[in-house]
Amino acid sequence: MARTDDDTWEITESVGATALGVAAARAAETESDNPLISDPFARVFLDTVGDGVWNWYEAPELPREVVEAEPELPARMRSLVDYFASRTAFFDSFFLDATAAGIRQAVILAAGLDARSWRLPWPDGTTVYELDQHRVLGFKSSTLARHGAEPTCNRVEVAVDLRHDWPTALLQAGFDATAPSAWSVEGLLMYLPAAAQDLLFARVQELAAPGSRIGVEALAPNFADPDALAQRRERMERVQALMAKADPQRQVPRSDQLWYFEEREDVGEWLRRHGWDVTVTPADELMARYGREPAKDDEQSAPWNRFVSARRV
Ligand SMILES: C[S@@+](CC[C@H](N)C(=O)[O-])C[C@H]1O[C@@H](n2cnc3c(N)ncnc32)[C@H](O)[C@@H]1O
Repeated sequence: MARTDDDTWEITESVGATALGVAAARAAETESDNPLISDPFARVFLDTVGDGVWNWYEAPELPREVVEAEPELPARMRSLVDYFASRTAFFDSFFLDATAAGIRQAVILAAGLDARSWRLPWPDGTTVYELDQHRVLGFKSSTLARHGAEPTCNRVEVAVDLRHDWPTALLQAGFDATAPSAWSVEGLLMYLPAAAQDLLFARVQELAAPGSRIGVEALAPNFADPDALAQRRERMERVQALMAKADPQRQVPRSDQLWYFEEREDVGEWLRRHGWDVTVTPADELMARYGREPAKDDEQSAPWNRFVSARRV
């Protein structure tokens, strides 16, 4: 589905469905033998919407002829679940460390189906602001309310488009720009044009008091490289064609068709220039820390992203 400057979505379509894809990976990890994270709500979301393209990563059994033609595909799919598990664990620790240091305002940018407001042990008095499009937030809160789940924090929904003037809505929702805050940017930047990314960080800068923290999943340095992009497209098209023959019911996710392949400023550098104390961890290092390994041949995808954590001094 082509992107436009003002596009909006349901949870089951376009960028909304990518939140279900992450939920599927979290459900698969939660239900695995040796899980790194526990997110029981991920399955609740998936049960509510039923089967769809988002189930791809949690059902790695592929038709024999597909595996014969693409022998490394199952390992690559498993490695993506490991990646999402490591990413989830990174942001869980990020928020727990921030609250242990006394921060009582968290802002989850592009919250999607992130259920941290229900599953993390937030200290009393913590407010978590969740920002995303209104139909995504509406699906999440109505599904979990029907399920009888209660947030473990003071959860505040801020329905916005992150390409538009979201700071006004956040302040109106009660956010205090004079007190320190902790921000997460997880699974978002590829869905924003480069100019919207710049504006996003400039706006955070206006709202983050000294002592604030930010955690960012930053894109791989070769994200917009035309050769890497061409190779990725070719590979995805090959897999799509194979699946269309072997199992036409099963769709192959193409979230790359929703990404903005544009050169961007390095997030760590940007934050350093703006007075933050920055630590950058390449994704393969983060995964190794958690005992997970990226697929060896996977040169162009998520395992080459970087995890940035920073404190404003
Ligand atoms: C891949 S999901 C990640 C969700 C969540 N951070 C997680 O890791 O589970 C991407 C999310 O970004 C949200 N998103 C992308 N662009 C957005 C925009 N311009 N405004 C608001 N939300 C946006 C989508 O609605 C979706 O929930």
